[in-house]
Amino acid sequence: MAKPQLKFVCQSCGSAHSKWMGQCPDCGAWNSLQQEASATATPFAQKHSLKAGGRVLDMLPLDAVVELPTRLATGFAELDRALGGGLVPGSAVLIGGDPGIGKSTLLLQAAGRMARAGLPVAYFSGEEAADQVRLRARRLGLADAPVRLAAATSVRDILTTLSAGAPPAMVIIDSIQTMHSDQLEGAPGTVSQVRAASLELISWAKASGSAVILVGHVTKDGQIAGPRVLEHMVDAVLYFEGEGRHQYRVLRAVKNRFGGTDEIGVFAMESDGLAEVRNPSSLFLTHREQAVPGAVVFPALEGTRPVLVELQALTVRLPTGATPRRAVVGWDGSRLAMLLAVLEARAGLGFGGSEVYLNVAGGLRVVDPAVDLAVAAALVSAVLDVPVPSDCLAFGEIALSGEVRPTAHAALRLKEAEKLGFTSALAPPGTKGVGKLSVSPVASVRALVDRLKARA
Ligand code: TYD
Ligand code: MG
Repeated sequence: MAKPQLKFVCQSCGSAHSKWMGQCPDCGAWNSLQQEASATATPFAQKHSLKAGGRVLDMLPLDAVVELPTRLATGFAELDRALGGGLVPGSAVLIGGDPGIGKSTLLLQAAGRMARAGLPVAYFSGEEAADQVRLRARRLGLADAPVRLAAATSVRDILTTLSAGAPPAMVIIDSIQTMHSDQLEGAPGTVSQVRAASLELISWAKASGSAVILVGHVTKDGQIAGPRVLEHMVDAVLYFEGEGRHQYRVLRAVKNRFGGTDEIGVFAMESDGLAEVRNPSSLFLTHREQAVPGAVVFPALEGTRPVLVELQALTVRLPTGATPRRAVVGWDGSRLAMLLAVLEARAGLGFGGSEVYLNVAGGLRVVDPAVDLAVAAALVSAVLDVPVPSDCLAFGEIALSGEVRPTAHAALRLKEAEKLGFTSALAPPGTKGVGKLSVSPVASVRALVDRLKARA
């Protein structure tokens, strides 16, 4: 057996280096390199050495008849939706999110509901003692659900336990960072441990037909700690997100081999666990009688589902010489900088001497590119101190030229807006109105500024 070689592995991106450095040259993270034993010396690696020879594989045509397994309902329609229509047997799903966002709560509730529906479910907790999980189950009113529960951190023990009986329909591993595989040296939570433990669990899922759900914690900068390397190993990656202080939580699919991405499920955290929000379209609107400058409603499209959100912009003029702040909650800060530059260059509206704040109300994070025009309208409305009428909304992508470009699914957005009582929309030229909702076409940021100036 070869002597194990030491190497330094970045705990953020997984790249390996021969010497320690303060900053990872691949992802730029500071202090993220940790010494780990190289994986080449294990019996596992030797078994898979090319010299040992392999077996001849059956090669089949693409149209070979395959039986698609029926998806399982998790008991949460919102979770099923994020998964693309239910849990696929034999698949591996990663659920990531900040500590305390509600991953364990969501999965314990789903486990309880599935078990009550007669599906065998196993829950392995590496973070909490079995009694703690039981207490939580009692608080959630699930104490009588026939979920099989164990506190465990050894992948070997878990697989031995699972292999002893019929494979459950769903296995929950909470969390992957606490699991330890004996295929490799190293402490749980390191990149190579997380990778090895996941690989074993995922292979077992494929072989047994059980769906395995891995819980992963996210670091401050929004990456799944260490196991970003995990994202390509699993079939689906869901992020559970939300502003900690807000009640609402959004489960967002960022990768799905069995369905669309950007599909979201919406939940509210209540005293007895997570409740589904079946019709979230107006959830993130703040209710107000009077239009205020800087507030504009945007019909976002999350996957296939329209959600109306309110954008709030505030600009504050500063004395000359002071460095103005730009702060964004719920949107991309560099995209805001770009829009400010476009407004300045193409419409002559300067923000250089002002602080700019942008907030997406309700704690939703907007990723839809059609939000540009709504943000621009909020900024222009704030800086000119002219309100956009409260029954008017805005959407459209803005190019660096200042031109407003058409966006996907305009009709779907407008239909939802009409249902909620909106009567007009600032939208790219060529967009057709829907029912009582009429469209005011906006061709460029200059046209937008002129339109709002005319209202002043
Ligand atoms: P948890 O599921 O433990 O988070 P994670 O597994 O993602 O780390 O969520 C814990 C939080 O949820 C905690 O701050 C309390 C809150 N909570 C409720 O508000 N109501 C409840 O019924 C439960 C079980 C938790
Ligand atoms: Mg947890």
